[in-house]
Amino acid sequence: MSLKRVLVVNKTFPQAGLDLLKKGGIQATVLPYSDNEPEILPEIKKNINGYDGLIWNTKHRLTAEILNLAGSQLKTVSTMSSGVDQVDVEEVKSRGIRLGNVLRVLDNAVADITVGLLIATARRFKEGVQEIERNEWKTGVQWMLGMDISGSTVGIVGFGGVGQAVVRRLKGFDVARFLYCGRSDKPEAKELGVERVPQEQLLKESNYVILACPLTPETKHLINADTLKLMKKTAVLINIGRGGLVDHEALYDALKEKRIFGAGLDVTTPEPLKNDHPLVSLPNCYIIPHLGSATIHTRNDMATISAQNILHGLKDETMKFPVC
Ligand code: DGY
Repeated sequence: MSLKRVLVVNKTFPQAGLDLLKKGGIQATVLPYSDNEPEILPEIKKNINGYDGLIWNTKHRLTAEILNLAGSQLKTVSTMSSGVDQVDVEEVKSRGIRLGNVLRVLDNAVADITVGLLIATARRFKEGVQEIERNEWKTGVQWMLGMDISGSTVGIVGFGGVGQAVVRRLKGFDVARFLYCGRSDKPEAKELGVERVPQEQLLKESNYVILACPLTPETKHLINADTLKLMKKTAVLINIGRGGLVDHEALYDALKEKRIFGAGLDVTTPEPLKNDHPLVSLPNCYIIPHLGSATIHTRNDMATISAQNILHGLKDETMKFPVC
């Protein structure tokens, strides 16, 4: 293989991935910008021409315009995420470019965050901390009561690796029923004791609704004013998928009017969410800044898989996690 050139579009790419590219004989260039810097997108556009591979580790969208700038020699692209909503997949596919993403290695870290969010929201951590900070810590048996996990019904929208890892963790919490809904039957469900039901039934019957599916045109705003009405007044919504799965205005109204008990969000639209966003002001909305896969080990593994995708793609071998 002649020397191949790969552009890593965001400087935060972990060294583990760069080391693997180097070992594979790839000349990698890393753009010296991160998503926190407004220059990143113009710099990507300015510098992207002429590479054989791209590591698209940015929230910015990989569009036809950017692919045109990249040039027709571009052969392979990898994200450093499981989600590919930041890529125009159809456009990439139509040009015969191979695209890979990163699965499995982040399931455990994201599942940990899901369980953390679920407990924090159900047991009102945010309100409790706020009361302490305001010096309003009251006592009494009726103060700051939350929701139980034991005996509950947990419904998971999208039963992939993360959803399954969540169930494995929650098995220790004496949950009464696990439900899932999604596009296809999952063979793992039987062994884990999880029942597939239509989405409407899941929303009606679950005490905890966990969104763990990708954002696609079909799943955009799957939680909206109408579907929120199906949920129990005592229900807790957890979103670890993508912000776009939830209509934030409708969620705000439902939380404000206490039509559901609470929401725990690891993902929002937009990201970063400004502190004057209405959802931030709600005591029953617990938001964390997209920390799902943010552990040292997981991010190193994710970078390694991205680099493997590129190496396989450039050698016309099957990628570990091919998207197209
Ligand atoms: C992903 O990889 O899509 C996750 O959301 C990252 O945390």
